Order: sequence, then structure tokens, then C-alpha cells
Amino acid sequence: MLVTLKPLADEAAEQPYAIPAFNVFGYEDATAVIRAAEAVQAPVILAVNIPAIRHMPLPYLAPLLLQAARDAAVPVCVHLDHGQDLATIQEAIAHGFSSVMFDGSQLPLEENIAVTKEVVRLARKHGVSVEAEVGSVGYSDPSMKLKHELSDPAEVERFTDETGVDAVAVSIGTVHRMEEQTASIRFGLLAEIEQRVRTPLVIHGSTGVPNRDLRRLAQARVAKINIGTALRMAFGNSLREQMAADPHVFDRIVLFKQAMEAVKQAAIDKFHHLGWGG
Ligand code: G3H
Ligand code: ZN
Repeated sequence: MLVTLKPLADEAAEQPYAIPAFNVFGYEDATAVIRAAEAVQAPVILAVNIPAIRHMPLPYLAPLLLQAARDAAVPVCVHLDHGQDLATIQEAIAHGFSSVMFDGSQLPLEENIAVTKEVVRLARKHGVSVEAEVGSVGYSDPSMKLKHELSDPAEVERFTDETGVDAVAVSIGTVHRMEEQTASIRFGLLAEIEQRVRTPLVIHGSTGVPNRDLRRLAQARVAKINIGTALRMAFGNSLREQMAADPHVFDRIVLFKQAMEAVKQAAIDKFHHLGWGG
């Protein structure tokens, strides 16, 4: 069933589990992720980033994901990931997304607060949840010229008080698009934020988080864990292995079947480390 982020996040913040938000780009990975969630009987968030929308515009992608969410046997949230302007956020809401992220992490704090307030006003009218970011989770790819800045607990407190967002992404040591699980999480900083802030917390760039730290984050007031690269690697590596094993294979339905299974298994593994299903 299709759900908004807020009730999922409120509950997960209190409980010793976290909900994964997996980046999905189309039918294959979206359904693989939902099958994984059903296998462990957990809710899941389908996170749609801007490259996904550029690849498959929302008039096509949104109906596909919303239908998959409605048909699922577990709660599924369809969420805009890293929306950077009001127009994109409005478009996602108009297409029926149940949750949006406004990423003002590159803006000065005052401006981030001002635009986030506007996003919250807009989203509330449609019953849509809102996530925003304070501090900035950078990228391992140096060509992405985005700043990396740990979150300041006082700023997170002020930001959440003034904007009323449903979930807040904080920067505590993760970096986007890491291919190894070698991120160094600042649990001391997380504890300082938790002392000041009641809003459910979100961690981006979580492919790079070691498994034992995924468990610790899930037990903290972290409600949502964003994972993209790990599943993209599972899909791509499966295709590469199949083609290497049989250079004559070209049928996408054959290739995708195994790749979807690889994504499902990678998602189940993350669910386990986040406190779900064993
Ligand atoms: O917003 C999406 C993510 O933060 C995913 O990051 O690709 O490093 O797992 P990742
Ligand atoms: Zn992210």
C-alpha cells in the first residue's frame, strides 16, 4: 500500500530499526526492492532522484512506481530524493508522490530554512511528507563539486524548530557513492543531535556504512537510511557477470531476471542489517 513518510519515520525513530530508502530507476529495481521488503515484512521507501527523472520523466515513472506501491503487501512510500527547486517538488507532488526531499544543503542556512518552509507549506496542502537536509553529505566523485560539511547540532535544532519538517537528513560522516563500506560514522555527533532534536533523522550515502554501524544507526533515532550505490552495483555486476559467462546472451528479459534477483538479495541483506527479518 502507498503511504507517506511521516508515520513510517515517526515509528522507526522510536524503534530499533530503520527504513531503507533505495534509489530506483524503473520497473526492474523498484519491483525487486518491493519483493525484498515483502520477504522481510518491512516498509520501504522508493527514492527517485533527479538522474532517474531525467532518464524516465515523471509522467511515465510516477504511475509505474505508484502502482507498484499500491499493489505491494507492505507499506511503500514513493519519495522524491534530493529535489533542489520548488518546480521539481511541485511536479512530484502533482504526480502523486507521497513524500519529497528538499535538498538545500548547498544554500546558506537562512535560505535553506526559507525555501524549506515554503516546501512544507506546499506539501502540507496535499498531505505529502517533507525531508530536508542540514549540513551537507558530499560525494566521493570529485567531479561533483558539492560541499561536504558535518551537521552542527544547534543548526539542526533551529532548522527543525523553524521549518517543521517530518524528517531531517544530517551529515555525520557518510559520503555519497562510496563503493566500499569504509565510512567513519561520528556517533558522538549523532548523540549530540539526538539530545537536541526530536524530528526523525535521515542518513544519506549509506552504501559506505559498515554493517555493524548500520545496526547502531538503526537503533538510534535514525528513521531512514538512504542506499543507492549498493543496489546499482548489484544490478550492474550481475549483467557484467552474465555477459562474461555467455558472450552470446543479448535478451534483456533473460539478463534482467538475474539482475533483479541480485538487487532483491542485496536489498534483503541491507534490511537485515537495519533490524528487519532476522
Ligand atoms: O539519496 C541517496 C543516497 O544518499 C544514496 O547514497 O548511493 O552512497 O548509497 P549511496
Ligand atoms: Zn543522498
